Amino acid sequence: MKSLQDLKYWKKGQVFLDVKSPMLSGAMTWISSTSLVKAVSDAGGFGVLAAGNMPIDLLAKEIELLKREGIHFGVNLITIAPNYLDHLHKSIEMKVPYIVFAGSFPRKNEIRMAKKEGARVMCFASTQSIAQRMIEYGADALILEGNEAGGHIGHVSTIILIQQVLFNFPDIPIFVAGGIATGKMIAHLFLMGASGIQMGTIFAMSEESPAHNAFKERYKKARAREAFATPQYDSALPIVAVRAIKNKGTNDFGKLQLDLLNKIKNKEISRLEAQFEVEKFWADALRKAVQDGDVQYGSLMAGQSVGLVDDIKSVDNIFNDLLSEANREFENIQKLIS
Ligand SMILES: Cc1cc2nc3c(=O)[nH]c(=O)nc-3n(C[C@H](O)[C@H](O)[C@H](O)COP(=O)(O)O)c2cc1C
Repeated sequence: MKSLQDLKYWKKGQVFLDVKSPMLSGAMTWISSTSLVKAVSDAGGFGVLAAGNMPIDLLAKEIELLKREGIHFGVNLITIAPNYLDHLHKSIEMKVPYIVFAGSFPRKNEIRMAKKEGARVMCFASTQSIAQRMIEYGADALILEGNEAGGHIGHVSTIILIQQVLFNFPDIPIFVAGGIATGKMIAHLFLMGASGIQMGTIFAMSEESPAHNAFKERYKKARAREAFATPQYDSALPIVAVRAIKNKGTNDFGKLQLDLLNKIKNKEISRLEAQFEVEKFWADALRKAVQDGDVQYGSLMAGQSVGLVDDIKSVDNIFNDLLSEANREFENIQKLIS
């Protein structure tokens, strides 16, 4: 009987990330700090530091700390963050081994710059054509993230992206994200051709996550359907949907959108300024929930996978439990076929 670790896709992800288990803890602004990245790395996975809106000195300090401790990691850069280009130059200068471009899409020369200095580049692919474009731009690997995921999300679900992206680009390592929190699912994704998986919500709830206890306790109780994606009210103000557990802060966001739409209509504010206000709202609201534990008005960004996670566990236990379950499922599949 073979184990999951014998699969060629597993090995492809393992070689690309240079880790024991090709399972990433996706970057989460305010949450993916050095402590979580280190815990994931110690458990055999791959941790990604979230640059978010960090002041450049702080980002440099966190990179320095991870490097000093000999941790193998990546940095997630938000291409629409105000200090994105500073983040990119600092990450390249400090020879971060893996750069994950998030937010919108990186320019070709930004990918080239990162690769020239030795970084391996991972890009999000939210459609088949974007996957193609990112490969042409030089991405070394893709992350396919369905809109079941937590935080800022695209329009398409994981199951559709699997068919549009994973099944169509067999040559490049593809990591699947959005809605994953069980070993059974992990086993099936590797069989479908994933080189690895990325999870966020399950790690936000881990013991090593720096999130406030009230935040983790709220996650523990939440059901999948409570992780709600914010609607866009009017095309005059295009917004990226955010998936979070519904609370009073969700209503505040609705009011903010209406207020900004009025201001756009009255020409008091430009569309771009309004979009900036929206992103500022989310960054502040997430900080309020994660750091202050304000679960009523802060943003409880979470994927629908929040309904699959009921315990606060150490990262090591999360890895052990997921991998044991994945291997049991893999054995069952082999028995079914033989
Ligand atoms: C609280 C929270 C914050 C997040 N922040 C970021 C971020 O800063 N950059 C990013 O690329 N993805 C971000 N994500 C997405 C995760 O990295 C990951 O891809 C996603 O959570 C996977 O789906 P899951 O939540 O179902 O596991 C965030 C997710 C959550 C839950």
